[in-house]
Amino acid sequence: MNRREFLATSAALTLYPNVAWSKSRSLRLAPARQSLVGEANPATDVWAYNGAVPGPELRFRQGERLKVAVQNALGVETTVHWHGIRLPNAMDGVPHLTQPPIAANGGRFVYEFDLPDAGTYWYHPHLGSPEQVGRGLYGALIVEERDPPAVDRDIVWVLSDWRLDREARNVEDFGGFMDSSHAGRIGNTVTVNGAIRETFPVRAGERVRLRLINASNARIYGLSFEGHEPWVIALDGQPVAPHWDGRVVLGPAMRADLILDCTAAPGSRHRVIDDFYSRRAYRLLNIEYSKEGPLRDFFQPAPRLRPNAIPEPELATAARHRIVFGGGMMGAMPSQREHRGLFWTVNGKPVPEDDHAHAPLLTLGKGKSCVFELVNDTSWHHPMHLHGHVFRVVSKNGKAVMPQQWADTVLLDPDSRAEIAFVADNPGDWMLHCHVLEHQATGMMAVVRVA
Ligand code: C2O
Ligand code: CU
Repeated sequence: MNRREFLATSAALTLYPNVAWSKSRSLRLAPARQSLVGEANPATDVWAYNGAVPGPELRFRQGERLKVAVQNALGVETTVHWHGIRLPNAMDGVPHLTQPPIAANGGRFVYEFDLPDAGTYWYHPHLGSPEQVGRGLYGALIVEERDPPAVDRDIVWVLSDWRLDREARNVEDFGGFMDSSHAGRIGNTVTVNGAIRETFPVRAGERVRLRLINASNARIYGLSFEGHEPWVIALDGQPVAPHWDGRVVLGPAMRADLILDCTAAPGSRHRVIDDFYSRRAYRLLNIEYSKEGPLRDFFQPAPRLRPNAIPEPELATAARHRIVFGGGMMGAMPSQREHRGLFWTVNGKPVPEDDHAHAPLLTLGKGKSCVFELVNDTSWHHPMHLHGHVFRVVSKNGKAVMPQQWADTVLLDPDSRAEIAFVADNPGDWMLHCHVLEHQATGMMAVVRVA
């Protein structure tokens, strides 16, 4: 059954207001069943944090200390990675590299660290990721500003996709050869906060802060909002000068904070379109206006968020490193005789996901400015993610990236390159990897040591 068939059979679902200000501070992993495609269809077997996909929206205030007790009731080991947070290495959730895995059938681990930066982040396992994330393990981690901008609602959309069969079962072909050596596991059903959504109800004159999180294994989103020009005010949680380019592109793991001013007429409806894959464009949902009169008819300019205190790299004196990503179908795939099941390389070398003990690709001097030239020598997109740091996206294909931005994940187009720069100020062993989880698991990762 494809998405359209599901839509036809599912009753109009409204987007439930988020459980904001959640005080949940523990995560229990267990199998669950969830209605992804409407009550009229069978529920899907998923793996969930606290019984639902996505897991609880964890909200903290900037400067607070996060403490989350994790209990693993799954039959497999896991870890929790706090994507985008500048945290101590021991709390980073990478098995063997930074902690022992949390044992199956009852293992526990307590994560505890300070939250230096406000922004939109998320959490997910860092072990067996193609399957564990593909079965539904992910959730939003929101760090609120000390002085948040005035909005009428602050809403998270966790975007995800699933490969479902006609009975709405998640097809259990995780980590297959085709997906791993091509674009990754792109599903056939896109969900917003764990279900197909028909509508996003709004009121005329509302100002909504919309936090988008791409929690998909491999799907890239390119969202436009018919009849609206939302402002992008943050990327990967980090403030950016408010701007709108017609659509917002999010590779796996990437986030964007939008200010959606509801400027259209009461009673009107407008499509949110995802046309990243142009021949497979579809309607994500409708923005549906209530009949009520407008809440206001004048909007203040988009708010500018206060930047987080991230050290600015010194480009002129930075140590430069060229890192080449290779392999994949139609590329220089590693010899399958030598490297069975590994399809991708970093500087010519494929690294298996379960080998977290390997030597670091690079050692960076603590406190030093660095520039990485990331070269995508493949025919595929790769969202490259660095742990423990936030970097400047300096240029893409030699052209300066504007407006200036910080990020923890940068999307490399096929046969392209990007320069990122950062101060290596966080000691430890940090992953640098592709966030197409099937690529990560089949060679596209490395360890960067800061010492
Ligand atoms: Cu979102 Cu290495 O992870
Ligand atoms: Cu990749």
